[in-house]
Amino acid sequence: MSYKIRNKEDYAASYKKSIENNSDFWEDIAQNFTWFKPWNTVMECDMKEASFKWFDGAQTNITYNCIDRHLEQKGNQTAIIFEPNLPTDKALQISYNQLHENVCKMSNVLIQMGIKKGDRVAIYLPMIPELAYCVLACARIGAIHSVIFAGFSSGALSARINDASCKMVITSDGSYRGNKTIDLKGIVDEALKDCPCVQNVLVVERTNTEIKMIKNRDHYLTPLIEAASSVHEAQAFDSEDPLFILYTSGSTGKPKGMLHTTGGYMIYTAYTFNNVFAYEEKDVYWCTADIGWITGHSYIVYGPLLNGATTLMFEGVPSYPNAGRFWEIVDKFQVNQFYTAPTAIRALAKESIDYVNKYELSSLKIIGTVGEPINEEAWQWYHKNIGKEKCPIVDTWWQTETGGILISPLPHISPQIPTFATNPLPGIQPVLMDQSGNESSENNVVGKLCIKRAWPSIARTIWGDHQRYKETYFTAFPGYYFTGDGAKRDSSGMYRITGRVDDVIIVSGHNLGTAPIEDAINEHEYVAESAIVGFPHDVKGNALYGYVTLKQDIENKELLKKEINQLISEKIGPIAKLDRIQFTPGLPKTRSGKIMRRILRKIAEGDFASFGDISTLLNPEVVEEIKNGKI
Ligand code: WT7
Repeated sequence: MSYKIRNKEDYAASYKKSIENNSDFWEDIAQNFTWFKPWNTVMECDMKEASFKWFDGAQTNITYNCIDRHLEQKGNQTAIIFEPNLPTDKALQISYNQLHENVCKMSNVLIQMGIKKGDRVAIYLPMIPELAYCVLACARIGAIHSVIFAGFSSGALSARINDASCKMVITSDGSYRGNKTIDLKGIVDEALKDCPCVQNVLVVERTNTEIKMIKNRDHYLTPLIEAASSVHEAQAFDSEDPLFILYTSGSTGKPKGMLHTTGGYMIYTAYTFNNVFAYEEKDVYWCTADIGWITGHSYIVYGPLLNGATTLMFEGVPSYPNAGRFWEIVDKFQVNQFYTAPTAIRALAKESIDYVNKYELSSLKIIGTVGEPINEEAWQWYHKNIGKEKCPIVDTWWQTETGGILISPLPHISPQIPTFATNPLPGIQPVLMDQSGNESSENNVVGKLCIKRAWPSIARTIWGDHQRYKETYFTAFPGYYFTGDGAKRDSSGMYRITGRVDDVIIVSGHNLGTAPIEDAINEHEYVAESAIVGFPHDVKGNALYGYVTLKQDIENKELLKKEINQLISEKIGPIAKLDRIQFTPGLPKTRSGKIMRRILRKIAEGDFASFGDISTLLNPEVVEEIKNGKI
């Protein structure tokens, strides 16, 4: 690979070139991949129309680049290490040859089931190798995968399946998470009551639990795989052909199906994986995310495999059978790069340090975080106890929408400043917007974080709603991509991401829009309206605080709270449950009817000192009542 950034000078030169000669810069990187047909243009980007084309006219197959291309050199090298939920169960080491065989068979099964280029396939699976096979098989035949995190409820699942009119669902009988067994197929059955678009369901056997199989709709995967041919020629697809849809929360109840396409996503995830994790041949890399999130797509599956790396998939949870599980796995497979979320670090830092000290962790070279701002204490704990003060920490900032990491330290190149994501990667031009919506040219400023120029893996649209895509990301600051985050730039130009400035709250690294949660609560027969805000939580980062106004007074409030959380669990999933619920006589609203969340946030945080200007409120008296209710 000739795209490795080796030192400071390299970074400076790459960055300079990427800004001055953006097309040439990306074209050089694209030369490292196999294309079946060359491009006509490197990029055609229009930030006003939110229209992006990279390597237009070119053809490739991303799985050819992830798998086939490596077979000659490293067919026997491990592509995927699978570590099961139970430490006593056998791990699998899946070689590139075996991965190829499995993905080819899976591709043939999909074809046989009538899946064609452009069809949407929903994948609702635990972190087992079949999840990777299915993702790659869809990509290989040009079907658009929509992976739905297997912690989502049936309601969230059916909404996502219907939004993209998925033709097929791939699931498993059940899943293991810690000491729990979850009835995944039952959840799918429930969801599919409302999904007429789904013709077939493929069922992977994982827990071997008894499940209901619906005739002509449900099929066990094993016999189909056994009968399938292992020969499948990767087909050529256009660089701009859709690769996948992945949902993220937004400021309305409807989840946003972010669409990513092939060529640009391919080169960007490969390039950033290689450099941010300073990956060297034979390294063992582990990202603890779930493939149901973008981190898993880009940095468990695509980025690592595009680099011919060894990537670890872990089925279980960090706390089972005990809080040493992550560190046990690091030693067991001699993991070199370890990538996790601040919430996991905070949770493990609360446990006895003996769980860490039982293990060597001497294989680690680079450790990373993603998903939310990391607080200084967690950063220091990670640095000292896991990185043993020698591993650089890569605090990687990015989003589902960005496809890959945009701002991150590069190991041994960028300075290590706790809580700072530091430098933009080559090709990325972050800017901070001031109060009046202009670019701040100085350092030592805070502002709303925007990106000035498109990069290859920027999302292309929201599935079925380009207008919403434009409005959400490209209208607040015309000509820029608006991230929804606030950030600070220090005196030396380093970036620190401070958090969301919109209606999204990050709980344990999960991106939750307030609107869908409020919609779920409002479905309760006794609820008139509700508002959700975040408040600081020492493990989750943020927890959810719900203000709920009832239609009439109810005697058993504790039961009602349980019912509200139950409803949220059913509609969205347990991750969106509220930590605190306060019943309120009303919600503070502006004259235009907008809930003033700023005040609700302060009350939830216990900050009653000043509510700022509340003169625009329609019902200022309610603020005092809510405040008194909280105390
Ligand atoms: C939001 C995107 C990107 C993969 C996981 C989350 C927050 C992400 C960081 C970081 C501070 C971060 C932002 C962003 N975020 N990484 N290193 N420091 N904040 O993807 O669910 O699309 O969430 O996560 O607020 O906008 P996502």
